[in-house]
Amino acid sequence: MLILGIETSCDETAASVIQGQGESVEVLSNVISSQIDIHRQYGGVVPEVAAREHILNILPTIDSALQQAGLNKLQAKDRLGGIAVTVGPGLITSLISGVTTAKTLARVWNIPIIAVNHIAGHIYANFIDAPKIKWPVVILTVSGGHTMLIKMDDHLQYQTLGDTRDDAAGEAFDKAAKLLGLGYPGGPAIAQAAQHFTGQSDIIFPRPMSEKDNYDFSFSGIKTSLLYKLKKDLDWPNRIPEYAAQYQTAIVDSLVSKTLAAAERHNAQTIMLAGGVSANLNLRKTLLERTADRLPQVQVLIPDLAYTTDNAAMIACAGYFKLVGKQTTPWADLQVDPNLKL
Ligand code: KG4
Ligand code: ZN
Repeated sequence: MLILGIETSCDETAASVIQGQGESVEVLSNVISSQIDIHRQYGGVVPEVAAREHILNILPTIDSALQQAGLNKLQAKDRLGGIAVTVGPGLITSLISGVTTAKTLARVWNIPIIAVNHIAGHIYANFIDAPKIKWPVVILTVSGGHTMLIKMDDHLQYQTLGDTRDDAAGEAFDKAAKLLGLGYPGGPAIAQAAQHFTGQSDIIFPRPMSEKDNYDFSFSGIKTSLLYKLKKDLDWPNRIPEYAAQYQTAIVDSLVSKTLAAAERHNAQTIMLAGGVSANLNLRKTLLERTADRLPQVQVLIPDLAYTTDNAAMIACAGYFKLVGKQTTPWADLQVDPNLKL
């Protein structure tokens, strides 16, 4: 079955066609019209600008996705099994562009519509080209807006084990990059700067909540610690790679330690990584190494880099499994929810 996915929750306008069959999902097209260069000049996403760009880009992006999947608009009506669209969480004005477009196409083509939670979409990036999944699964979901540990016993069943008490991990990367003058988006900038440091360092960042017997995170303390360290160290502009590396290590260590503790406690057979921060190579490597060391029987799945930051293939994949589970949304009931919970 073919599904068209549409994603406009933040600053990427994205459309994708996937083919699902049984448990297997293959991506036929994955088109992203990125606004990063536009928002970079403001140091972050400006919602009004993002909304306007979505309106300009959404139809050409969908056109490209259909074309690259070998579908023309006349065939789409008969070949697509449904349209999956992100309904939240995200920026309300951004979400509206995708949802309005999806609703219009679903009505014109007379095909089902599937409301997808953006976080569920990130999780389902792991189900693209995936081997057979061993349940239960514990997922570390780390993006610009969320840092959560989630347990799934089966498809579409989410249990939140832990959440962030303050900033999300991606937000912590973005804020540190601003303090270090590395620009936007901060995660890739910090990761790149960190590559230039090897060796020992006396810059130590806190590992908040590490002693706590729960699976919650906190990242605002690490960010404040960076701010105070930079104020005291007049030589910091010459030590940017070292600060970036130590900061990245502290975040990755917190994320991986909690994930392994949760996986062990909940008898996970699989650990998954999801969200924009899962593009971080140090996080990917550390999770693989420390799981092999501590829980060698556990399968670790990490999405292909193309499906880590916001994209529509992950939304189409989540939509496919919802459609299989008969969780479509009546056309008239479909609406955006910027604060949607998993
Ligand atoms: O999932 P995503 O694309 O958007 C949200 O749903 O928020 O995640 C964006 C976040 C940003 O905070 C960005 O700095 C972070 O993911 N990010 C990274 C990397 N690539 C993107 N963080 C660390 N290392 C990276 N390589
Ligand atoms: Zn996202």
